[in-house]
Order: sequence, then C-alpha cells, then structure tokens
Amino acid sequence: MKITICIGSSCHLKGSRQVIEQLKSLVDEYDLQVKIELCGAFCMGECLRAVCVKVDDKIYSLKPENTRSFFEKKILAKLRD
Ligand code: FES
Repeated sequence: MKITICIGSSCHLKGSRQVIEQLKSLVDEYDLQVKIELCGAFCMGECLRAVCVKVDDKIYSLKPENTRSFFEKKILAKLRD
C-alpha cells in the first residue's frame, strides 16, 4: 500500500512533517515496512483540507493529532481486507 503525504506549503504549515514522522513510527511500531510505502508529494490541489494524505487514490485530511487514530482505524483495516 502506498501512502502519499502532501508536503506542499499549506500542508507543511498544518504539520505535514509531524504527520510523516508519526506515520513512519507507526509503520515501525506495527512492523509494516514491507506492506506500506510512504511517499511525499507536492500540492495535491486540496489545500483547504491540509494535511492531505492519499491512500489508494483517495485523499484524506489529517492532523498530527489524529494521525494515530486514522492509521489504526483506516490503514490497519484496509490491510486486513
Ligand atoms: S499544499 Fe497540500 S494540497 Fe495543497
């Protein structure tokens, strides 16, 4: 699974760096390095929804505070599908 995090300026201001750091440690914590690829991308054209994170062509709006629950609810569930 590929997770792409926007590092454009709006998303950067809303904390994309913290979102990336958290996703990285969650991937390590759950030992999912083989299954999850984290990438950065420039502006996805959805700046109002910053921080934008794309998973399987769907854009989600994350904050550093809800990154863990997003990962645990959405990502882990998707991997189980
Ligand atoms: S800067 Fe992230 S969508 Fe525009």
